[in-house]
Amino acid sequence: MERTFSMIKPDATSKNVTGAINAMIESAGLRIIAQKRIRMTPEQAGLFYAEHKGKPFYDGLVKMMSSGPIVVQILEGENAITHYRALMGATNPVNAEKGTIRAAFGGELPHNAVHGSDSEQSAAREMSFFFSQTEIVG
Ligand code: RTP
Ligand code: MG
Repeated sequence: MERTFSMIKPDATSKNVTGAINAMIESAGLRIIAQKRIRMTPEQAGLFYAEHKGKPFYDGLVKMMSSGPIVVQILEGENAITHYRALMGATNPVNAEKGTIRAAFGGELPHNAVHGSDSEQSAAREMSFFFSQTEIVG
């Protein structure tokens, strides 16, 4: 069993589709073992996406990610990291395959509905960015 970090982004919370996204996650066989609805400050969003600092889309990404509520989650399942990346679909929703979350609920970049960790290291970092051990009960 593996764990990954997931985030439902502000464009998706504003569309009121957090339940629909959770249904897709659960139907795919991933288990939501921790979850909370929060809002990031621009400083937190900047730190969270620090790997992209200096890229042309960084400032817009930070602004978008702190523009409204998000839902942060920990998902558990077999190969959860790659499984969830596949369920999310391509970064640009225009290229996302049918049946993926970004095809169903994404808009125009940077509005692509969800985030998912891209490696074991980023999963560990991102889970501890938002959750303490006592909040992860399985
Ligand atoms: P994420 O980190 O959110 O799961 O997305 P990702 O791995 O599929 O894509 P990444 O390259 O890490 O980009 C992070 C987020 O930045 C926004 N973005 N905008 N305008 C653009 O060209 C552009 N490129 C990326 C997206 O919100 C993307 O998810
Ligand atoms: Mg990424």
